Amino acid sequence: MKITVIGAGYVGLVTAVCLAEVGHQVLCAKKSKKKFEMLKKGISPIYEPGLSEMLQRNLKENRIDFTTDIKEAVNFSEAIFICVGTPTTREGKADLSQVEDAVSSIAEHMDSYKLIIEKSTVPVNTHLKIREMVQAETDLEFDVASNPEFLAEGTSVHNFMNPNRIIVGVDSDRARKIFQEIYEPFTSKGYPLLFTDIASAEIIKYASNAFLATKISYINMIADLCEKTGANIDDVAKGVGLDHRIGDKFLNAGLGYGGSCLPKDVNALIHTYNELGLDIGLLKETEKINQNRREIFYRQVEEILDEIEGSTITLWGLAFKPNTDDIRAAPAIDIARKLQDRGAKLKLYDPEAEDNFSLHLPENENVTYFQDKYEAVKGSHALLIITEWDEFKVSDLDKIKKLMASPNIIDGRNILNTELMAEKGFKYVSMGR
Ligand SMILES: NC(=O)c1ccc[n+]([C@@H]2O[C@H](COP(=O)([O-])OP(=O)(O)OC[C@H]3O[C@@H](n4cnc5c(N)ncnc54)[C@H](O)[C@@H]3O)[C@@H](O)[C@H]2O)c1
Repeated sequence: MKITVIGAGYVGLVTAVCLAEVGHQVLCAKKSKKKFEMLKKGISPIYEPGLSEMLQRNLKENRIDFTTDIKEAVNFSEAIFICVGTPTTREGKADLSQVEDAVSSIAEHMDSYKLIIEKSTVPVNTHLKIREMVQAETDLEFDVASNPEFLAEGTSVHNFMNPNRIIVGVDSDRARKIFQEIYEPFTSKGYPLLFTDIASAEIIKYASNAFLATKISYINMIADLCEKTGANIDDVAKGVGLDHRIGDKFLNAGLGYGGSCLPKDVNALIHTYNELGLDIGLLKETEKINQNRREIFYRQVEEILDEIEGSTITLWGLAFKPNTDDIRAAPAIDIARKLQDRGAKLKLYDPEAEDNFSLHLPENENVTYFQDKYEAVKGSHALLIITEWDEFKVSDLDKIKKLMASPNIIDGRNILNTELMAEKGFKYVSMGR
């Protein structure tokens, strides 16, 4: 089946490549000329495990192509996935300008029936606005549907190809049939496709992300109790997570959540509740606890070092989570900026996110980026672990101790063993243990 995807970011590119992988003919619209050239050559502008190989295979087999011509993209197929960004405005609501721009282009150029699919995360009843916009421009037939995306960066190709569930909000049989065809390669393997009304599908995405964010803040709240009482949050989380009703995922205490989705979706949902005059105290607390994690971590750094000014501090991990180069709303941004403002010399290392991070914090006499985790700790007074990349879990601790000016480690992700660290002679603090 022919499919159009508008936007080639984390969601758009993965959607386009994975739909091509299962046999569809996909044309993906890209705005930036430079990245378009890269994509045509099979180079992914984003880092996602497995994505480049899949992109190259599907380009070679002619199942995927890219264009910067939005008219060509709109008229390529009748199913159009909108996968553009919906960032947060200053007031905390979802900025729908990229979605509106894409919808205007569809309305302007469509020459036959179109199924306009919201894959971007958009607030409940956005479909009504989209419908109004298109109706104002054309008499041609069209449907609007919601098909929220649940992939997680770092594992997105695997998530898309092996979904827990596919959620589709539709209000016409025609739209329903098109989705059945699009997702047949998945439903035939037993992956569940749940049809709902459109507003419910829009809400399912926010309800899921807000729940995950709340689960993280909840365990961080319990971590504070562990810290005050001498208990160990790792054991507590394990004990709690063994209950099947709760589950063990998203129960890692530490620096809290970041990234392009959880913070913005929590904020946007709070905004929607406020607009509707509904009470949203629970989510406000989720957000507050999360922000506070960065403060708690920072205080630990202050406590362990006599003086931040003039200290050399290493950050291991800049991405908001492992296996991605995405640094949007990453805790490392707040922490590095604060340390820089206080006069620390920063040594930064991340396996994938350094290029993106250096756009926020360029290299200068007090900020240096390293290609090797050991080089980055040379002469440091403290090593801060910000992202739980696998390569940080197993390190030569004796070597690190020798290289550092003082053996201080503040572990924001609880990835190292407290007893081992004491045995090796480190001054080691983590969160809630
Ligand atoms: N990143 C995730 O893990 C994730 C997971 C699930 C859902 N989502 C949602 O998916 C949406 C996209 O997120 P993302 O992380 O992929 O964002 P992104 O910023 O990585 O990608 C969006 C892309 O759309 C492009 N774009 C904007 N307008 C365009 C237009 N008119 N024509 C062509 N391209 C256009 C932008 O240039 C950008 O490359 C958001 O609503 C997000 O909340 C993201």
